[in-house]
Amino acid sequence: MRLSAIFLCFSSLIATAYAAPPSTLVDLGYAQYQGSLNNATGNIQFLGIRFAAAPTGTLRWSAPQLPQTTPGIQQANTLPNTCQQAGSGVQAVTPFHSNSGSLQQKRAAPSASEDCLFLNVVTPASGTKSLPVVVWIHGGGYEGGSGASFDGNNLVQQAGGGVVTVVIQYRLGLFGFLAEETNPPLFRAAITSSTFLPSQYAFNDPVPEQLFSEVVQSTGCSSATDTLACLRQVDVNVLEQANTNISGSGFFGTFLFVPVVDGHFITERPTQLLRQGKVNGQAFLSMTNTFEGANFVNMATAATVQTPTYLANLFPDFTGANVTAGTAQYSNQGAPIDQVVGIMGESIFICPTYFLLRAFGNKGFKGEFAVPPGGHGQDVNFYFPSAGAPSFNNTIFINNFAQSFMDFAMSLDPNIKWDPANTVPRWARWSEQSRNEMLFNRTNAGVPVFQSVTTSAALIERCE
Ligand SMILES: *[C@@H]1O[C@H](CO)[C@@H](O)[C@H](O)[C@H]1NC(C)=O
Ligand SMILES: *[C@@H]1O[C@H](CO)[C@@H](O)[C@H](O)[C@H]1NC(C)=O
Ligand SMILES: *[C@@H]1O[C@H](CO)[C@@H](O)[C@H](O)[C@H]1NC(C)=O
Ligand SMILES: *[C@@H]1O[C@H](CO)[C@@H](O)[C@H](O)[C@H]1NC(C)=O
Ligand SMILES: *[C@@H]1O[C@H](CO)[C@@H](O)[C@H](O)[C@H]1NC(C)=O
Repeated sequence: MRLSAIFLCFSSLIATAYAAPPSTLVDLGYAQYQGSLNNATGNIQFLGIRFAAAPTGTLRWSAPQLPQTTPGIQQANTLPNTCQQAGSGVQAVTPFHSNSGSLQQKRAAPSASEDCLFLNVVTPASGTKSLPVVVWIHGGGYEGGSGASFDGNNLVQQAGGGVVTVVIQYRLGLFGFLAEETNPPLFRAAITSSTFLPSQYAFNDPVPEQLFSEVVQSTGCSSATDTLACLRQVDVNVLEQANTNISGSGFFGTFLFVPVVDGHFITERPTQLLRQGKVNGQAFLSMTNTFEGANFVNMATAATVQTPTYLANLFPDFTGANVTAGTAQYSNQGAPIDQVVGIMGESIFICPTYFLLRAFGNKGFKGEFAVPPGGHGQDVNFYFPSAGAPSFNNTIFINNFAQSFMDFAMSLDPNIKWDPANTVPRWARWSEQSRNEMLFNRTNAGVPVFQSVTTSAALIERCE
């Protein structure tokens, strides 16, 4: 399945408070974990730390609960089970137009565990100083991904031993986003790598209601008086089949089980909250890739795709007037296939990045990762070589790029460099007036490019 390889839809690094000096035995009150030395890096790592009770049975779709107490010392030396996985839609049309038929569609079910609320911690082995903590929330469109690809040792090394890393897992697909929940923010700063903001519907909009009723029908809960109680008793393998079937039934490149506006935890759509400047944190850094949309558009349709039809499928609630207006915005953006790649990438990843930057006032930094082909997720291997080989194998580029993020995590400013060999020029803050960005690219001859550029006014206009 082509899309399974590009599960990195939304990723963020978040720097927060300070951790205690390293020790190889930790007592969390409810459990004691023995960490171990990573012989390759010299760091101490704790793999598979439980941070919540197993979200199974009556805790399925409940807010996370404290773990039960486990006596004795547990060895924290094994990567935890991943959460149940699904993927993005693969269909030519949206299932949310009335003539589209059922959401059911065949796909092989991957194996994982519902008991997946674990995290991995890596600390440098030496030193007694308190250090900033970088929390990595993996990507995957809320449907896939896990902590396993993201080795916190990578970030500790890029920070010269100046951070502690925590890589978390969270419930995915219908297990996490049939209803939703998250803990309140505890962070002093945020980094987004390809900000991901899919259409976020009200919980009772026809789109999430159709998804809910598909889940109920396909799991045999239709005649239950209490459908939620029935769903909590459904065998996890049946639910996982429904998860993959329904997720695959979405319009190509879209993700169906995503957060909704519930009116309680998420009170309004993020675009509206950002307009009101409702953000936490002292600083923000965001990276986008030049062609974010390319991985989420069916390139087999390059010769036939029509921009109005594409818009109507991507945004099933669009009126005819909305489709006409959207089509006009992209009419000078190349061939129809280029237009729809632009629509997918800008509406879901790139424009939300500028909405965030605006909300942070002049406390944000913006980067663009353009090393060809500049597709979604290509920046991530530079912070996490554990996730895959970086596409530009140049030591100066790799160190300069990855260290800039850890400099930001440590100092809230990528210009304060722990390693004097980092040659990225002064990275100016982004503001509505200046629109400064740092471009990370390479020349055809293989020379790294670090260049101050300005956000295009036409892009800002399309985002509006
Ligand atoms: C790390 O090295 C120690 C001492 O040589 C050894 O006992 C341990 O098995 C090694 N750990 C791993 C994961 O290789
Ligand atoms: C998933 O789809 C397969 C193939 O169409 C079907 O046999 C199976 O019953 C479906 N399962 C669920 C739970 O939707
Ligand atoms: C979509 O169209 C409706 C009415 O046709 C209009 O009220 C709304 O502002 C339009 N939305 C956008 C984003 O243009
Ligand atoms: C990257 O370059 C280094 C030398 O600079 C080399 O040792 C390594 O094998 C290269 N990696 C890949 C994946 O080509
Ligand atoms: C990045 O560099 C390539 C040449 O290697 C060039 O074709 C491309 O236009 C550059 N991208 C940006 C956004 O400047």
